[in-house]
This record gives sequence, C-alpha cells and structure tokens, in this order.
Amino acid sequence: MALLDLLKHRKSVRDFLDRPVEREKIMICLEAARLAPSACNSQPWKFIVVDDRQLKNKLCNAAFSSIYFINAFCKMAPVIVVVISERSKFLAQIGGMFRGTKYYLIDIGIAIEHFVLQAEDLGLGTCWIGWFNEGAVKSILNIPQHKKLDILIVLGYYNREKLGPEHGREPIDKIASFNAY
Ligand SMILES: Cc1cc2nc3c(=O)[nH]c(=O)nc-3n(C[C@H](O)[C@H](O)[C@H](O)COP(=O)(O)O)c2cc1C
Repeated sequence: MALLDLLKHRKSVRDFLDRPVEREKIMICLEAARLAPSACNSQPWKFIVVDDRQLKNKLCNAAFSSIYFINAFCKMAPVIVVVISERSKFLAQIGGMFRGTKYYLIDIGIAIEHFVLQAEDLGLGTCWIGWFNEGAVKSILNIPQHKKLDILIVLGYYNREKLGPEHGREPIDKIASFNAY
C-alpha cells in the first residue's frame, strides 16, 4: 500500500479476533522498529513480545486491573509487546539535558510507529497503550525494577467492520504554516 493510504487506513484497534499471530509477521514488525532513527543512533529500546496465551492472560490481568481497567480490552489481543525504554547514549542524554528534551521518548515513539505501520501493512491491528500498571508488568516478566516502561503495543488480527468511529484530525491550515508561526 502507498504510505499515505496506509496512514489513512490505520486506526487504533480495540477488538481483536481470537487468532494467533504468526511469529514471522511479528519478526517483520520488529525489523521495522529496529530500523528506526534515534538521537545519536542510541536505539534506546528493547521489545519483549508476549504471545504465550497463558502468560499473556496473566500479564493482562495484572496490567489492566483497578484504575487501569479502561484498557481491559487488551486481554482480547493475542500479542502484547512490552517496550522497555533504555538509556540513550551519553551524548544524547547530555544534549537532551541542555535542550530540555527527552530524546529517548521521541526515539521510542518513532520505533513503535514503525512497528505499528508495518503491522498495518501486514493486515494486523495495533493499539498504543500508555495507561497500564508498570510495576505489575515488570514483576511478571522479571524486568528489573529500575527499567522504565512507557508504552505497550497490543497486536492481533481484527475485524475492520467492528472498528470504532474515526478520530478526527485537525485540518492542515491549523497545524502547519509556511515561513512564519
Ligand atoms: C502515546 C500514546 C498512548 C496511548 N495510550 C492509549 C491507551 O492507554 N489506551 C487506548 O485505548 N488507546 C491509547 N492510545 C491510542 C489513542 O487513543 C489513539 O491513537 C488516538 O485516539 C487516535 O485514534 P486512532 O489511533 O484510531 O487514529 C495511545 C496513543 C498514543 C500515541
């Protein structure tokens, strides 16, 4: 699919089919994420793919209970990808401190969107998940407590007819201009 068509086609998916995702397809999505640019080429990310049904269910029960219940739909997804935000290279950290910019967050955002768009191109649905119980996810996957998890991705096959309403976007003249603010 042409890139702009793919971008128009992609929507967050919150209703998944009970169908496993082939490891080959997950590997292609990971390859797309791996190729993302990052500040000082830090590549400050690690991905833990949870596709074992029992483990995935345990993870979801812990990650999306109590105040996080709004994301309980994630239990339907056959795959959860946990993104570990690793440390940027020293130069990117120092530069970020001077600029007041968290380059690592920009970096993982790009990598995740590469993953998401590749998934869409393979006919798979995704949803970014920023609201989850980070401590519970770390305990279940034995991720050291000092690591930072900012985002999860849920992944799976979906029924396009069952997607929710479009989320509108601002028109271009409201978000962009030429040569002046
Ligand atoms: C950083 C980030 C965090 C998000 N966290 C959640 C979340 O916790 N739960 C959820 O259902 N959607 C989450 N989303 C999805 C957004 O709600 C969604 O992308 C937005 O409403 C636009 O809709 P669309 O993706 O269908 O175009 C998140 C998206 C981003 C980029």
